[in-house]
Amino acid sequence: MKKLFRLALVSSLSLMCFSCYYDELYVEEIPEIPDDQIVSFQDDIQPIFTENCIGCHNTTIANPDLREGNSYNAIVPEYVIAEDAENSELYQKLPGNNHPIDTGSPLDVDEIALIKGWIDQGAKNN
Ligand code: HEC
Repeated sequence: MKKLFRLALVSSLSLMCFSCYYDELYVEEIPEIPDDQIVSFQDDIQPIFTENCIGCHNTTIANPDLREGNSYNAIVPEYVIAEDAENSELYQKLPGNNHPIDTGSPLDVDEIALIKGWIDQGAKNN
């Protein structure tokens, strides 16, 4: 019985370590957007919001409002520090990167990279 308890303890501890490790790994895997690739808010970022966020981010359920036409003014400057994605609340709280609730569908690394790139390129309404 004692042995079984120890086994359970060891496996839950290693599971915990694995999940921390996985979190870190995910963030380290975010690719850099090359300088000559201009990220467009209309063409690259809004479609990510429209597909993944507006079911909740529509002012009725959660802020900021990420619906087309409202999103830019809702996030800049309140959630976005132009040219500083690392310190921008939008980037810090993306699904897949510390979003306050588990949405069940984190963004993939390429989508997170686009949002990071857009902020680091000045968060323009382009
Ligand atoms: C299943 C619903 C749901 C989905 C989908 C969702 N969110 Fe959220 N989000 C929430 C809730 C609920 C909160 C907490 C709101 C609060 O604290 O007022 C939140 C909070 C946030 C915050 C922090 C807001 C704050 O003021 O602290 C950000 C940034 C955010 N979400 C971005 C996103 C983005 C970007 C997407 C899509 C890629 C997304 N969320 C998808 C429900 C969702």
